[in-house]
Amino acid sequence: MPAVISIEGLTKTYKSGHQALKRVDLEIEKGEIFALLGPNGAGKTTMISIVCGIVTPSSGTILADGHDIQSDYRAARAKIGLVPQELTTDAFETVWATVTFSRGLFGKAPSPAHVEQILRDLSLWDKKDAKIMTLSGGMKRRVMIAKALSHEPEILFLDEPTAGVDVELRRDMWALVRKLRDRGVTIILTTHYIEEAEEMADRVGVILKGELILVEKTAALMQKLGKKTLTLNLQEPLAALPPELADWPLALKNDGGEIEYVFDSNAEKTGVPSLMRRLSDLGIGFKDLSTRQSSLEDIFVDLVHQDREAA
Ligand SMILES: Nc1ncnc2c1ncn2[C@@H]1O[C@H](COP(=O)(O)OP(=O)(O)O)[C@@H](O)[C@H]1O
Ligand SMILES: [Mg+2]
Repeated sequence: MPAVISIEGLTKTYKSGHQALKRVDLEIEKGEIFALLGPNGAGKTTMISIVCGIVTPSSGTILADGHDIQSDYRAARAKIGLVPQELTTDAFETVWATVTFSRGLFGKAPSPAHVEQILRDLSLWDKKDAKIMTLSGGMKRRVMIAKALSHEPEILFLDEPTAGVDVELRRDMWALVRKLRDRGVTIILTTHYIEEAEEMADRVGVILKGELILVEKTAALMQKLGKKTLTLNLQEPLAALPPELADWPLALKNDGGEIEYVFDSNAEKTGVPSLMRRLSDLGIGFKDLSTRQSSLEDIFVDLVHQDREAA
């Protein structure tokens, strides 16, 4: 597959002296969904902003669909749609006007049919004549997405698209992302949520303190990092873990009221069924149980730790 975005030797040092990106090299393939994962302050927004021409790089070359984003900015930018992390909308315009105007900014001929389709896809059609300032936060975010799609971009950037949005919008957004991908649009999104990356992305890049420390197919990454935590809420608190449970690396939490078990969810044998049987044999009952996927935070701690050990 040819690269639709090609980033080479990208660095960014802000005027404050802060180095937000350290020699990033990355190729995004045409038609893929790429998730950029990283904690707050890692450099995700900086990277996206540079590709979209909002922030100037300190060094490096970036091509978008073959166009240099600095020397051939207009051609490059016309290929790109951006849904920024922060809501920025023209409060006094109507939804219809703002989306139509945005399309014009990229030199596209008017297409009421296309604008209508986008508004319908985003459940905004009945709000088309509403002034943006009258809309809820979720609706405003939908308008941001509609604006980003107004000029039929081939590459779509979504910066933290689901941070703080309601379930309905999240679901609509993913349905839309899939639909766009089926049409051949390349999608690059940033997120904190590994579950989201796991479900949506073909490939994942992990960025930490301005360094792209890993780029991998999602399935392979999850296999490497797929840990889960099982929490059992006990009927009676335990003073200590009985020696009969020594085969499992368990932790007693919450004043003995909970047992926590971290396991590899991709392993042939997770150890969960045998643990359940042993608990039952020991007469240790539980009121409730839950599992959760390792958070990105846990995974980072692991990665950074491995990094240090390797060094
Ligand atoms: N305009 C700016 N001036 C100086 N430092 C900035 C600016 N924008 C971002 N930074 C810093 O650069 C780092 C990366 O920020 P950002 O790209 O927003 O990270 P992320 O999107 O991953 O949370 C942070 O330490 C942030 O404080
Ligand atoms: Mg950001």
